[in-house]
Amino acid sequence: KKVVLAYSGGLDTSVILKWLQTTYQCEVVTFTADLGQGEELGPAREKALLLGIKPENIFIDDLRETFVKDFVFPMFRANTVYEGQYLLGTSIARPLIAQRQIEIAEQVGADAVSHGATGKGNDQVRFEIGYYSLKPDVKIIAPWREWDLTSRTRLIEFAEQNQIPIAKDKRGEAPFSVDANMLHSSSEGKILEEPWDAPDEIVWQRTISPMDAPDVATEITIDFKNGDAVGINGEALSPATLLTRLNELGKANGIGRLDLVENRFVGMKSRGCYETPGGTILLQAHRAIESITLDREAAHLKDSVMPRYAEVIYNGFWFSPERRMLQALIDASQASVEGTVRLKLYKGNVIVTGRKSPHSLYSMKHVTFDEDQGAYDQFDAQGFIKLNALRLRLGAMAGRKGGTL
Ligand code: ARG
Ligand code: SIN
Repeated sequence: KKVVLAYSGGLDTSVILKWLQTTYQCEVVTFTADLGQGEELGPAREKALLLGIKPENIFIDDLRETFVKDFVFPMFRANTVYEGQYLLGTSIARPLIAQRQIEIAEQVGADAVSHGATGKGNDQVRFEIGYYSLKPDVKIIAPWREWDLTSRTRLIEFAEQNQIPIAKDKRGEAPFSVDANMLHSSSEGKILEEPWDAPDEIVWQRTISPMDAPDVATEITIDFKNGDAVGINGEALSPATLLTRLNELGKANGIGRLDLVENRFVGMKSRGCYETPGGTILLQAHRAIESITLDREAAHLKDSVMPRYAEVIYNGFWFSPERRMLQALIDASQASVEGTVRLKLYKGNVIVTGRKSPHSLYSMKHVTFDEDQGAYDQFDAQGFIKLNALRLRLGAMAGRKGGTL
């Protein structure tokens, strides 16, 4: 029996690794993804070797470009936010991890996969729905739902008994749980559980405080093509390089911090603190380029399905027919979303100051109040307004004034 474990190299997944070997007597294959979480992945290999994993059973993949190009960018084409605010930094990474894990399982002939998500959250749902939709007969082992290492003390004990090295700072209870990748860092749980308590400054790991940000604005331009960002300040950049650059700019200007209470798919509310510096800039810039390139009804239609699309991703249904259908609709709108947006980054704010496009639908000739160029006949507006008001007039004549039912 072989199992592919999503392995971070941290204490929790190292304990899971050992627990799988001892409880299930199975051969463990580790998979560690580089999603730009900003951690060295060398130590994950060392640790896996130390825990008895054969070199051919250790997979470490740099998925940064794929992550941004095939997951983050498609999601940003829809200006996706969950419950009005959350940019889905964790949610969007899970399907990619699940996909690569299943590929490895097929490659090494494993029949099972395992992950370190708890039994209370969204991530278990996202991983497992991903696994099932890509390998319908897969066996899933979710240690946090099965084992009795329910307290930190028991976990540490198990680690000590099994010669799992524990970093000094990992001995005590971590003050909150962190998930990070190139798009965002999320912190939740423990000291963050009381939603009235303001988050301590140590929570924020990838942005400086807006209060400490420079007193002068940083001006940048972002170039778009087919709805995706392709360059900054006129320089063409690969998806992951571009997001990295935006993250640096966002960090330095205190952009992208968010403290919110959200509704988990499993039913409970949870409080999270998120940092999405580059993504926050990108979202504003994308909306700005769409504002001059998209037809009104096309824009409103894609906006109307966006909350649904966000929910589909949040709930873990990336590999579903509804997500693919929504994606097709969104992508179909992006062919002319091309051009350049100018922005000022200033103390936590992203301020759009200009936009231009070779496919602009903005018509100065039509909008100008100055002099009539004959392109728009103001006389037409009279009938347009009157017919739009007709049903309201009929209602009012029947005694239902002011829109009363
Ligand atoms: N609540 C966020 C989501 O469901 C983040 C979850 C993972 N965060 C964590 N700190 N473990 O997408
Ligand atoms: C977890 O439960 O593993 C993290 C939080 C979540 O998935 O919602």
